[in-house]
Amino acid sequence: MTPQVHVSPHPLVNHKMALLRDQRTDPKKFRELVREISVLLTYEATADLATERLSITTPLGQSDERKLAERVGLVPILRAGLGMVEGVWSIMPNAEVWHIGLRRDEQTLEPIEYYARLPVSPTVDVCLVLDPMLATGGSAAAAVGILREWGAKRIKFVGIIASSEGIHHFSEAHPDVPLFLAAVDQHLNDAGLIVPGLGDAGDRLFGTG
Ligand code: PRP
Repeated sequence: MTPQVHVSPHPLVNHKMALLRDQRTDPKKFRELVREISVLLTYEATADLATERLSITTPLGQSDERKLAERVGLVPILRAGLGMVEGVWSIMPNAEVWHIGLRRDEQTLEPIEYYARLPVSPTVDVCLVLDPMLATGGSAAAAVGILREWGAKRIKFVGIIASSEGIHHFSEAHPDVPLFLAAVDQHLNDAGLIVPGLGDAGDRLFGTG
């Protein structure tokens, strides 16, 4: 199966990505850009959500409208995924948020789970896994694995930058999960960082770099 990779061609995304990548961008601006890019990517990632009809009374009469018929869960991968939640919530305020904590082992680059508390069975119809960076793809693949085990049926990944090899690795594990991204970079360095990328998203969001 060919990986389902959607890289936003939108000019606003392109413009904001240049600012986000810039090493001179301070944490306050960086957080703002992550929020804004998350909104734009989520707009694209949710284009196929089911809706149902309803009738609304306007000041002048009745109008046939539509409302969302699916419950959406946001699953930020700690830490950096947290920076995307506020933006997505601003357009989907009723979305549930379920956190998954994964950190990469610095030597092996393998993800280590340190937090996942999910209810006994899925409470949502669609999960959006949020993480700005998909480097080796290990963290994203592990998070989707946790959600699958939980029983989640429809899962989408919303990231910001992915590496080509990370996409390959992720899609081998989860070929049916589409990826919504702002950019794909070609190269991973020895420390597993995306090059040119934007550095460590968690550190830049939380001012810990
Ligand atoms: C970074 C990033 C992703 C992961 C990507 O998190 O935010 O979660 O690495 O790498 P992978 O695709 O190779 O798994 P990190 O583990 O540094 O933790 P942090 O968000 O707490 O800084």
